[in-house]
Amino acid sequence: DWSMENFVEVEIEKIRQEVGDRKVLCALSGGVDSSVVAVLIHQAIGDQLTCIFVDHGLLRKGEAESVMKTFSEGFNMNVILVDAKERFFSKLEGVSDPEKKRKIIGNEFIYVFDDEATKLEGIDFLAQGTLYTDIIESGTATAQTIKSHHNVGGLPEDMQFTLIEPLNTLFKDEVRALGTELGIPDEIVWRQPFPGPGLGIRVLGAISEEKLEIVRESDYILRDEVKKAGLEREIWQYFTVLPDIRSVGVMGDARTYDYTIGIRAVTSIDGMTSDWARIPWEVLEIISTRIVNEVDHVNRVVYDITSKPPATIEWE
Ligand code: XMP
Repeated sequence: DWSMENFVEVEIEKIRQEVGDRKVLCALSGGVDSSVVAVLIHQAIGDQLTCIFVDHGLLRKGEAESVMKTFSEGFNMNVILVDAKERFFSKLEGVSDPEKKRKIIGNEFIYVFDDEATKLEGIDFLAQGTLYTDIIESGTATAQTIKSHHNVGGLPEDMQFTLIEPLNTLFKDEVRALGTELGIPDEIVWRQPFPGPGLGIRVLGAISEEKLEIVRESDYILRDEVKKAGLEREIWQYFTVLPDIRSVGVMGDARTYDYTIGIRAVTSIDGMTSDWARIPWEVLEIISTRIVNEVDHVNRVVYDITSKPPATIEWE
């Protein structure tokens, strides 16, 4: 009969059988799915697994460090950290259309991954954290036409790898249980969804380093206060966005003309529909005060009170 312990045992045996003494590559994003896949495969074949983690410069504050700490140090896995910030920035310069930004980021990710993979020799397998639900949903009109999501089948098509997808019979809650069984920390197992294009779609319009910094710092404050208020598991996804507008404010005796930060926080089951989260006023007050005080060039904070539909969760 089925249990998580059993599943782990059976899957590890299957992976060992299939891989033998050959090598496996995995694109680690720090998200739940790729983390669970990487740790599961590492338990099966140890150093025959190499993970690639791409820092595209659109990550949240502390993210690259935390991924390296957890997997490279904590689990003692082979993780290659690729600093591709410059590559992504130069490709994104002056681009303001959301779908163009997504496409550039998705494609550049593939090129970077491809470059790193070709440097490694003798890799036969590519491990991916595809879930059962990814397989079903990637066919729907919502996923494909409203926004181009890059999670399914997003890796190099012409790469000569055999795919290993050990999670493709599992639902999200089962993947979380598996992650816990494998000893992956709660922060990762219960991590909120984070889109592949990262902060690149949270700076609305054209991206600049200054704007990324504003969204990164404000997001960090929001996450910190949500955690302090113990609301992490109640809110499905929460983040800040930087609209491409400035407005008038006053600081001391001086007039300011600076950016507005939007806070987006939603409750949802699967991201297909959502409602705005009823974060207590007192918590919002602290967040707002901290953002205008601690983040340069922000003089106004607004809270998004639209559901999905008609709005989407992200602003781009
Ligand atoms: P929307 O904004 O479409 O978001 O209501 C629904 C969920 O999908 C995430 N999202 C993305 N994830 N690449 C991703 O990997 C994308 O381009 C992308 N766009 C949106 C969003 O964060 C939310 O969880």
